[in-house]
Amino acid sequence: MSKDNPSSNPAAKLWGGRFSEATDAFVERFTASVTFDQRMAREDIEGSLAHAQMLAEVGVLTNEEYSKIAAGLKAIAAEIEAGEFPWEVGLEDVHMNIEARLTERIGDTGKKLHTGRSRNDQVATDIRLWLRNRIDLIAAELTRLQGGLVDLAEREADTIMPGFTHLQSAQPVTFGHHLLAWNEMLNRDYERLMDCRKRVNRSPLGAAALAGTTYPIDRARTAELLGFEAPTENSLDSVSDRDFAIEFCAFAALLLTHLSRASEELVLWTSSQFDFIDLPDRFCTGSSIMPQKKNPDVPELVRGKTGRVNGHLIALLTLMKSQPLAYNKDNQEDKEPLYDAADTALDCLRAFADMVPALKPKKENMLAAAAKGFSTATDLADYLVRKGVAFRDAHEIVGQSVSFAIAQNKDLAELSLEQLRQFSNVIGEDVFEVLTLEGSVAARDHIGGTAPNQVRAACARARKALEAR
Ligand code: ARG
Repeated sequence: MSKDNPSSNPAAKLWGGRFSEATDAFVERFTASVTFDQRMAREDIEGSLAHAQMLAEVGVLTNEEYSKIAAGLKAIAAEIEAGEFPWEVGLEDVHMNIEARLTERIGDTGKKLHTGRSRNDQVATDIRLWLRNRIDLIAAELTRLQGGLVDLAEREADTIMPGFTHLQSAQPVTFGHHLLAWNEMLNRDYERLMDCRKRVNRSPLGAAALAGTTYPIDRARTAELLGFEAPTENSLDSVSDRDFAIEFCAFAALLLTHLSRASEELVLWTSSQFDFIDLPDRFCTGSSIMPQKKNPDVPELVRGKTGRVNGHLIALLTLMKSQPLAYNKDNQEDKEPLYDAADTALDCLRAFADMVPALKPKKENMLAAAAKGFSTATDLADYLVRKGVAFRDAHEIVGQSVSFAIAQNKDLAELSLEQLRQFSNVIGEDVFEVLTLEGSVAARDHIGGTAPNQVRAACARARKALEAR
């Protein structure tokens, strides 16, 4: 390359001044990030526009220079949008590709854009802007999913199913109540996401390479122009901090953990062994060899994708753990895990938000399953307690009754009054009310309980909370 006129060579390095030989071809590829960080091109231009405007406002650029730069950057944005931008691996990353292109298009004025900043504060700004956009998309999709869940929970407020502990039938619950349990997990995810957003939404621009800059920059102004809450405080921390990315991945890992748990339940429920739910064909695929198969691929894949998101969290934690202040090239490795965590979270939310309203509960099967497995045994114990028996004695009496019923191949509600009275003579005709599934769920009538009227009240509260977002 000609060192006298670096711009005559498209792959000329913007930092080439002190170098006496060209970069090794492999090293050039190895150190480049443009193949992936071009995803932040829009944010890079947004950041540059704000930086240039501020430089003009404080008099470092003339208004004419600013206008030229702004027009050039906007033309480049259109070029990128149209897929016509000539990305060069030799120009290393999205920042230098765009800057070099600017100079190519508008001439030497383009070289003034980088005044008073560094790629270190530039990249930190870009990631924050990019992530903020993703957070807003994810929040909207999360809210869409939750809206669907609450609607379904309300429709299914009376639908009885077995509740499980140890995956053994435990006590009857309503399907609506079960769905609202998922909704609570997602509420916490939303809170975490919003909390993370606060720390994402700070402007590191102006920290420059690490120590700040000698130009009379106005960091509050660029923060304001970019919609950031405020500038970050310390220049060393500003260029090296990736806590916000780690926090986002922690949010995503926990979100995926929740979606994975729900997926596992959908996989179980759609199996012929449970047969609680019909998942419409459009969310399933078949088998190439077994003609009868309809596989719940979407929930299975969501469950599977949890692994990679957990991996991204560990990748970022490990990336940061030994880095001395301030910026290190290690940080270029932050992007792919972060991008993928955000993409995966968004895709999985979309899958769930589309799927939930289409779930078709098979109510008779749920009810029949709830009727099996002595799920009202606790209700019988509570009944005995109300008749004056101590809880531990009641537990023992019901245990004997269950054992007897198993031997008779019957459920508790199918035993006769005389059979039940062998175990306790306080049992009367009214016992059959508490042994019904409807009686059992209706009796759990308090905040957070499974009674249908409590589920409906919880749905109303949940909907109000979603509307207030
Ligand atoms: N591509 C780099 C990254 O992703 C941009 C910052 C480079 N800064 C530097 N001093 N080499 O982190």
